[in-house]
Amino acid sequence: MKLIMLGAPGAGKGSQAKVLSDKYGIPHISTGDIFRANIKEGTELGKKAKEYMDKGLLVPDELVCDLVVDRIKQSDCEKGFILDGFPRTIPQAESLSQALDQINEAMDFAIDLEVEDEVIVKRMGGRRACIKCGATYHVENMKPQKEGICDRCQSELVLRDDDKPETVQKRLTVYHEQTKPLIDYYRNKGILKEFDGTKTPDEVTRDIVSTIGE
Ligand code: AP5
Repeated sequence: MKLIMLGAPGAGKGSQAKVLSDKYGIPHISTGDIFRANIKEGTELGKKAKEYMDKGLLVPDELVCDLVVDRIKQSDCEKGFILDGFPRTIPQAESLSQALDQINEAMDFAIDLEVEDEVIVKRMGGRRACIKCGATYHVENMKPQKEGICDRCQSELVLRDDDKPETVQKRLTVYHEQTKPLIDYYRNKGILKEFDGTKTPDEVTRDIVSTIGE
């Protein structure tokens, strides 16, 4: 199963991708998590990506595409994978499509989580992310078992730098301008599946699984 998660920042892509990754036994590949890991490790890629991420802008396509194309060629992706946060522009989608064409493969579904901007802004202020594994929680509607501590790896939970209100607003503008066109792109390819991302996380998962199959 090869899946793309689409949706605005905070629509629930990462939360759903983690559950689906466990359910289908396929890797969850989040470009945001890859960049954050690089920032934490102080790599050159991390330094370059941070300049854009802190402003709510997209990291340039040339820093993203090769990274993802190399990742999906690794052996753990043979049975499939879930792309979360990639592609985010039409050129990124084209580069993914070309890479898959070369190995006679194609994506199965693009899962679009629909959430209005006003709901997104409210959600982001309450999000807490694990500094180690990237798991996300919410102070009200997805609480960890122990406050401030990740259920998965027991590391500290923090407010992401780019979840400040002014940066969230910029990320939403960038989403509408550069990423939303991918909805029509994948609709035209016949693989788009749209879901109401304002339902509870469990309901969203149930809707997705009942559409794409057990
Ligand atoms: P990235 O990390 O991909 O961020 P994003 O797309 O903005 O998405 P988020 O992680 O913010 O949200 P999400 O949809 O995963 O929601 P979540 O599940 O956490 O990218 C960060 C930055 O990296 C970008 O701005 C860009 O600079 C750069 N970047 C990354 N990929 C790139 C690319 N391909 N090209 C260029 N640049 C790139 O949920 C959000 C909150 O809501 C959580 O608190 C969660 O608990 C809660 N929640 C989830 N579902 C529900 C629900 N159903 N009901 C109530 N609350 C819910």
